[in-house]
Amino acid sequence: MLIAQLSDPHVTTGLLAAEPASGLHRALGRVLAVRPRPDCVVITGDLVAHGRPDEYAALREIIGRFPLPVHLAAGNHDDRESLLDTFGGTPCLGGGFSAYYHVDHAEATVVVLDSLTPGSSGGQLGDDQLAWLDGVLGGRPEVPAVVCLHHPPVGVGIPAADEIRLADGAALAAVVGRHPHVVRVTAGHLHRSVTTAFAGTVLTTAPSTWVQSTLTMSADEEIGLVGEPSAFLLHRVADGGCVTHTVQVSHAAGSTCAF
Ligand SMILES: [Fe+2]
Repeated sequence: MLIAQLSDPHVTTGLLAAEPASGLHRALGRVLAVRPRPDCVVITGDLVAHGRPDEYAALREIIGRFPLPVHLAAGNHDDRESLLDTFGGTPCLGGGFSAYYHVDHAEATVVVLDSLTPGSSGGQLGDDQLAWLDGVLGGRPEVPAVVCLHHPPVGVGIPAADEIRLADGAALAAVVGRHPHVVRVTAGHLHRSVTTAFAGTVLTTAPSTWVQSTLTMSADEEIGLVGEPSAFLLHRVADGGCVTHTVQVSHAAGSTCAF
């Protein structure tokens, strides 16, 4: 099974709408050109820039005609109510009206978590959601699971980002560590690609389809945005494991598809 993970499109409206919209559209076109064709797309948060209803309408316009299943996660730039108003009851939120949900694909359980904490750039899952996750993972132990969320649950050595990581990452690790069939935990938020061990599995983060963050590893230097290539992660779940490829988009000569 192939899962294409896109992240941080930051879709907006108005004068600045074109660049993030075309970044997401181009990444989705690149997904369609992958063979075999991916089974689904997960977008790990910061779906829109300001959480406004008109921005979610713009997002719906971009992904509405996309021919593969798209699963959406909330990030700190999102607004939960607007997200649910626009996509609740549709396959984009697993058919339900919650921003955390799971989708039981034949070859993998895709679990989407909601780490959005209103008023904060940081994230938190909370005890209720973690208990729910424990139950979901325990319910289908024979099938590999991929856990997706916006905020990385560990520090990555970028101080400005580490300050606003997932607050209850240790509690997430305790749950994931109880379920060895979790073949991947994957996040966004960093606008960079990072890989590390986590709770007996592997943690990855996906770059942004819009713009990347500088690799600012000292606290006395200001973090910024940089025009490094946009990309997405392609997770191949097979043979009881998960292999991840980074697929360049903006600077790539690879073929793309219109939709
Ligand atoms: Fe972001």
